[in-house]
Amino acid sequence: MKGYLDKVAYLQTWGCQMNVHDTEKIAGVLRGEGYLFTDKPEEAALIILNTCSIREKAEHKFMSRLGYFRRLKRKRPGLLIAVAGCIAQQEGERFLIDNQYVDFTFGPQNIVRLPELILKDMRKAAVDDNPALAETDLPAIRNDDTRAWVNIMYGCNNFCSYCVVPHTRGRERSRPVDSIVGEIKTLAALCCKEITLLGQNVNSYKDPSTRASFAELLEHVNAIEDIERVRFVTSHPKDLSQELICAIRDLPKVCEHIHLPLQSGSSKILSMMNRKYSYEDYRQKINLLREHIPGISITTDIIAGFPGETEQDHEDTLSALREIGFDGAFAFKYSRRPYTAAKEMDGQLDEQIKSERLKTILELQDDITDKINRRLKGQTIEILVEGVSASDPNHWTGRTRTNKIVNFTPEKSLEKGMLITVDITNSFRHSLQGRPQG
Ligand code: 5AD
Ligand code: SF4
Repeated sequence: MKGYLDKVAYLQTWGCQMNVHDTEKIAGVLRGEGYLFTDKPEEAALIILNTCSIREKAEHKFMSRLGYFRRLKRKRPGLLIAVAGCIAQQEGERFLIDNQYVDFTFGPQNIVRLPELILKDMRKAAVDDNPALAETDLPAIRNDDTRAWVNIMYGCNNFCSYCVVPHTRGRERSRPVDSIVGEIKTLAALCCKEITLLGQNVNSYKDPSTRASFAELLEHVNAIEDIERVRFVTSHPKDLSQELICAIRDLPKVCEHIHLPLQSGSSKILSMMNRKYSYEDYRQKINLLREHIPGISITTDIIAGFPGETEQDHEDTLSALREIGFDGAFAFKYSRRPYTAAKEMDGQLDEQIKSERLKTILELQDDITDKINRRLKGQTIEILVEGVSASDPNHWTGRTRTNKIVNFTPEKSLEKGMLITVDITNSFRHSLQGRPQG
């Protein structure tokens, strides 16, 4: 024995919740093959890196980490290294040719083929379009048993001009209601309390045979016993229907939070992004949401420095942030991605301009979030207990239905997954402080 075992795997993930959940499935498939897991790559016989290519920065981070694994393999040639996820899909065969020490690669639609890829002589780039995956229920190993992510659909048909996702995750495929509900019932039996339904564009969900809509799916999920809260990401504004707004309002387990990426406050830029809505359309949807669901929290994504973005377009984004008053926003510098239409557009901006605009957006949004959170001071709010805080072992953490983090000192024996009420005693930019009642 040289300090590692034949069937021990180390998994690392970059990127979005979809990728984190894909890694849970990779772990589930490997467990079926008899693998154990380690958090030390030095002890592993198999290393799988689940990558993200949404922005160049994510690719750079991954490539520098890959250098470390290459050195490990030099010391130990028997080590298997596999690259999964969006970079694997985007680069195809080329990735293996350029990085000969990587044994095999597989894209998000080919996790199901992992058992054959690990076998000697079967190692290659498994990146072909595999829509059957939407029908394959893969076992997942989830680290958290009280909250779980569940895929409802894969892929994206929208081709926003900046985005590589339609090229790495293929066309939209929805899972049948029955298999989604079956998976959630199993999770409920295992003490899961909160479900987050996952898809690139959940609002365009359609059951492949019954054609049931996303709002109808929510009704089915809402009816599952022992599940307390239902969330979903991500929504595309163009597909946010009145039916869905009413479902969020009427279904008691569906939480009052929506992540609704705006991307830009300029209708000209939105059109160049191929988003298929204007700022006015978006604004109307926000009005409808707030009218029907008082207190709903709304978060968004913004891209700073899209090609051709003028100072005025940037100002329009700042005005939109002020006008709408989002509870929170993720903002990113525009990044030129392979295969995308925006990559070829005129008017690409300097890194420095993009950085400056990003900084202004983040600072403004921080102030807005701070103001909104301050209004919660003195309120009594229900939270779902998530466990000991990652940043401070003396504190516990939970989340409101509106998806805000609340840290608190536990005053009685608490367990993960309990619903408790807390008085909000203080507020910060990215969290609240609370005192449990009773
Ligand atoms: N550059 C910067 N941000 C991007 N996003 C997607 N593609 C890019 C890109 N090329 C952002 C969008 C999306 C979020 C998940 O990532 O804001 O909503
Ligand atoms: Fe990318 Fe647009 Fe699809 Fe979202 S909706 S994954 S931003 S192409």
